[in-house]
Amino acid sequence: MKSAYELIQDKQTGKENTPEELKILVNGFTAGDIPAYQMSAWLMAVYFQGMTPGETLAYTRVMLESGRRMDFSYLDGFAVDKHSTGGVGDKVSLILGPLLAACGCYVPMISGRGLGHTGGTLDKLDSIPGYRTGIELDEFKKIVETVGISMIGQTDDICPADRAVYALRDVTSTVASLPLISGSIMSKKIAEGISGLVLDIKCGNGAFMRTEEEAELLARLLLKVGQDYGLKVSFSVTDMNQPLGNAAGIWCEVRESIDILKNQAPADILEVILTLGEQALVLAGQEGNLRKKLSRALQDGSAYEKFQQMVSAQGGAAASLENPATNTPQYETVITAPVEGYFYQIDTLQAGLAVIALGGGRKIQSDTPDPTAGFILLHKIGDTLKAGEPLVKLFCSNSRKLEEGKLILSRAVTIDTKPPDARKLIYGTYP
Ligand code: URA
Repeated sequence: MKSAYELIQDKQTGKENTPEELKILVNGFTAGDIPAYQMSAWLMAVYFQGMTPGETLAYTRVMLESGRRMDFSYLDGFAVDKHSTGGVGDKVSLILGPLLAACGCYVPMISGRGLGHTGGTLDKLDSIPGYRTGIELDEFKKIVETVGISMIGQTDDICPADRAVYALRDVTSTVASLPLISGSIMSKKIAEGISGLVLDIKCGNGAFMRTEEEAELLARLLLKVGQDYGLKVSFSVTDMNQPLGNAAGIWCEVRESIDILKNQAPADILEVILTLGEQALVLAGQEGNLRKKLSRALQDGSAYEKFQQMVSAQGGAAASLENPATNTPQYETVITAPVEGYFYQIDTLQAGLAVIALGGGRKIQSDTPDPTAGFILLHKIGDTLKAGEPLVKLFCSNSRKLEEGKLILSRAVTIDTKPPDARKLIYGTYP
């Protein structure tokens, strides 16, 4: 049997790791027998060398088989979920999950924490006072059966390998790798025991896939893996060249999600929600005007009601959701437009790094994110600005970090005298 050192060397020099070797590495690391420094080196080798299709499938299988696989096929409705490849301000799961439950689907959702410069649903759920993301699977099942939706994180029982490897990728700049993303996303989704999955493949300067070609490649890979496991899969490739919606950070995204669930949505995120929602309902075999059905569930409060029911079922204080005293930042500041012109572009990767600098993410594994940290975009790309007009509001609970985040974000924004080219929000959908 080869040592971890030899397996790293094989990958580093472009050789394949066998399914058995991948099992030894992943399970050894998850069990604590292979140290993080060797796993990090192997992840970096994968990042640069990639994996063959066979290796990718085998790696995904090892991640999946590290824990239990649920089965919701006995339910009297369709079990479906949505997953994003990650972005800045991407709070779609918090809204779309309850929305699909309000439209008659079952949604057993396993999410992850912030990854690299992108935010994570799990950190947002953890910021709700009392909310338990690490519940036992029996309770998870019961909440899905009774409420229609439960949102949890990877546990000792379910995708423990993703929990371990994910945390390491977060801080070692080894996220943007097709096989690693496949293993991470698809292990969580297949383990959920769902029948249908909608993928939001983010594309642009704030996504792990920068170009449409790369995004399409990732989408096809995830589609193939899902189909191999008998899942019905749809995907959309959507724009991540600016934060989605207005808020980026932990609690401010929960707050914006509540506004959206109460039918006050910024136009861009609403369009993404309705596009993915329609795809999910089609997978569920629903017919008719599905966009109208989704919009109605936002308008009549039934989606928000599902969210509140889920929060209560998982121990969260539903009253805290609208309490202005929850996660209040101690400090805030504003970035103003230095000159008159058009909001031309934003370096969305830097915007995500600004959230981390504010304290809203992890620089090292042991960091505890500050849920009060984040920013609100007061304008979107293409808006006209007067000199001195407020452009972004930033906040957190550490005055030094506030200045650090402000500096990064100020440099990420470009104002120009000419307007930016019109950009698509949805690049494509499948099927
Ligand atoms: N989301 C995940 O769960 N994993 C990844 O690797 C990327 C996005």
